[in-house]
Parts: sequence; structure tokens; C-alpha cells
Amino acid sequence: MENAPKLNPSVLVIFGITGDLAKHKILPALYNLVKYNLLPPATKIIGISRREVKPMEILKTVDLCVYEKEGSCDPEVVRRIGEQLDMFKLDPLNNDDYVRFKDYLDRLEERAGLCLDRLYYLSIPPQAYHPIIEKLGLNGLNGTCRHHRATAKLLVEKPFGFDVESAQQLIENTEKVFSESQTFRIDHYLAKETAQNILKFRRHNPVFSSQWDCRHISRIHVIAKEKIGIEGRVRFYEQTGALRDLAQSHLLQLLSLTAMNIPTELTSDEVHAAKHAFISNLYLPSDSKSGHPLAVRGQYTSYKQEVNNPHSNTETFISLVLRSKDPNWSNTELQLTTGKSLNEKLTAILVYFGDKDPNVLRFRIQPDEGIDIDLMIEEPGFTHNLRKVKMNFSYSEYYETDTHDAYERVLIDAIRGDRLLFATREEVMASWHLLQPILDYWQTDSNDLVNYHNGSEGPDISRLSRLDSVKLESV
Ligand code: BG6
Repeated sequence: MENAPKLNPSVLVIFGITGDLAKHKILPALYNLVKYNLLPPATKIIGISRREVKPMEILKTVDLCVYEKEGSCDPEVVRRIGEQLDMFKLDPLNNDDYVRFKDYLDRLEERAGLCLDRLYYLSIPPQAYHPIIEKLGLNGLNGTCRHHRATAKLLVEKPFGFDVESAQQLIENTEKVFSESQTFRIDHYLAKETAQNILKFRRHNPVFSSQWDCRHISRIHVIAKEKIGIEGRVRFYEQTGALRDLAQSHLLQLLSLTAMNIPTELTSDEVHAAKHAFISNLYLPSDSKSGHPLAVRGQYTSYKQEVNNPHSNTETFISLVLRSKDPNWSNTELQLTTGKSLNEKLTAILVYFGDKDPNVLRFRIQPDEGIDIDLMIEEPGFTHNLRKVKMNFSYSEYYETDTHDAYERVLIDAIRGDRLLFATREEVMASWHLLQPILDYWQTDSNDLVNYHNGSEGPDISRLSRLDSVKLESV
């Protein structure tokens, strides 16, 4: 396949291989990487589980080829991934198991005659990270191989903590074992094709870059609507909610790419520094009437029953307004909206040029990845009517090859140690500091939780914007 990256042979150790994320995202991504020969054949995938499980059992229960048009897996690819996959029985709390595991990894390398870079992927809830990270450290699994030629990396999934305090704790505990440069905090939205394009698009299109500030842009709205509900993730979602699940990470990261200052060099360090500066400049404006953060939160009708908790206050929908202290953005409305069990699956960034009848530029993250803009034209004929039309770029129309799934990109970048798409500790802490006041307010008041019907457009959010006609359906 095109531009195959050069990768060191590695061992990818997946904690939580029987969980939802591995099933729906990680293993299908690995299937594709194997299919397109993007992983060196010496790469090993080791699934960790508490009970004895055979590799083929795992492969059988997973929809490996979800991106294949007919949905039927290529048996040859399944055979190849089966050869690369092994399972290891380990109780995360039992130190002896880690001693055995170290021995197992050493033998694996001996057999391969190679040093393998070690990637530990924690596809488990953040509350379960600590004992694993600690024991990996205690047993020297955070270091190099016996011949000092390999690296060790830790891959973790968001949410990185639950609030300022827990995030700080998590970062401090992790740093005792894995340095910041060894830690890869996954935000798979950054690896989506259009998201990766944003900075380049902004830099290389002078027609837009010369207008990219609050004098021209009245509003930026990042939207992630989902059709699915919580899909059985009751425990996780009850503790998490939409703000922590998507807004604090995915949406804030997308907003940062859209409005941060573009550094001279697009190196990982410079991009992260600019993103951190952007997030640090944000604040939550207060509602002029109530004095509370300007936000609408909602819960879909069947939620309480689904989680079997008639008193649940967990939000499945959140729309909130942000402002920036940066003079470049002081006058622009910044808004993040996400919800589950809505009428459609759609992730997009909307950039409004002008106040009245704005030209809306859309970065369509999914589905139908692409970029379009509304333009006003005079209709043909003898009338002088104006009409809004769309100028559209669509990846699927322009390029014949399919775009890669975000998790394929995440895995490749983690293996090659490219940190650009992974959140830094500074960004994570700045985003928790920014949103903590909403969490605090919700602790004391739950009267603002609005009910919305499953499959609907969600609660009315028009009061959050000074612009006319800003509704979710205007996407
Ligand atoms: C995850 C969230 O990070 O992203 C899920 O935890 C959400 O709740 C998922 O459904 C959406 O990802 P995607 O790539 O399907 O839009």
C-alpha cells in the first residue's frame, strides 16, 4: 500500500483485549494494518487476560473487518493476524504474574533474535491503571530490552482522569514509571483524516489564513452528534458523562486545532506548545441571568432505565460556550456540543465568517470526510433572488483509496514514536482546569438537566448563541 511507514519491530501488549474498545476499534485497526502490510511481520500482539483464552477465541468474537465493504474477513489476513497474536494470562494485581511476563517477553525476543519495542496499551478504565503501571515499573518492564536496543511506551485512553485532582494524581503516578516522552495519551479524533488536515489547510490557503481571527470569524462550533446510546457501558458512562467523555478531550482538541496560533514549524513540540497556550487562554463565560456557566446539558429519555438508576444525573448531551482571553479571538463565540442517541452521526467543525448570513466553512470529520463552504450567489434567470450554495471537497470523490481509520493511524504513530497526535500532560491539565467550574456547579445543582427524546435533535441550544438561526440541524 501507499507510503508504508518504516517501523521497528515491536510487541504490542493489550490490557483489556476482551473489552469493547479492543473489539470495535483496536483489533479491526490491526486487521487492516496486517492486511495492507503496514506492520513489520516480526510485530507481536499480546493480549492480556485474567483467564485462559486462546488467540483464535479472541479473533472469532471480534468484527475484525468492519471496514470491508461486504463485511466478510479475508481468511488469509485472519490467518496472518492469528500468527502474530498471542495471549498471556495475568492478574493485574499479582506481582508474580509480571515476573512471569517479563520472562515471557525476554524469551519472545530471544526466539525472534531481535529486540522488540514494547508498547503497553491500557484499554481499560483509568481507575485500573495505577496497579498495572506500578508493577510494570517494579519489574523493569518500563525500560529497554536486555540488549538495550528497544524502547518501552505506555498508551492510555481518555478520559485522562475525572477532574483536576484525579488527573494530576494520574499524571504524577504515571511519571514515576513512564516519562512524559514514553507516555502516549490517545485522542483518536485527532487522527481522523480531516482533523489532521486542519493546520495545513489553515496555513496554505491565504484566502482563509488572512481572515482567521475574531474580526472575521463570529463563531466556531465543534459538534459531535452520535446516533448510538451508551451501548451497555453503564458503569463507565454513569461516572463519565458527555462532558468528560467527548467535550473535555475530543472536542476541545478539535477546537484547538481550529483556533490555536500556527507555529512556524509544525513539529510535535511546537504544535503542543501552541495548543497548550490556546487552551490556557480559554475561559467559561457566565450566563448573564444566572451567573452559572453558559451551557445546556441533557439526558435522553430511556437513559435512567438503561442504567437502572432512576436518580441518575449523568448528562448524555452537553453544549457549552467558551471565550478566549487572546485578543485574536476575544470577540468570537466558541462552542462545543455533543450528544448521544440523537438523530444522526455527524462530527463537524463549523466556522462562521460574518454575523449576518455568514459564510459557513465546515470541516466534516465524519461521515463523508471533507471540507465545504456556503456561498451566496444570485439565482439564474430574471429575478434577483439570492441563494445559498455549497462548494464542496469530499475525500471519497477526490481520492480513490479509502482513508485509514483513526485507530490505524494512532497505532502506527505510537509504534514509530511520533507524538504529534497525542495529548500532553500540560494540555490535559489545562483542559480540566478550564472545565472544572462546570463540574463543580453540577455537584451543587442538578435542576438544569433537560430531557430529550431518543433519536431527536437534542435539547434547544439557541439561547447559547447571539447569532440567529444557530440550531443543531443547521449543520
Ligand atoms: C469515544 C467515546 O472516545 O468516542 C465514545 O468514549 C464515543 O462514547 C466514541 O461513542 C465515538 O468515536 P467515533 O470515532 O465512533 O466517532
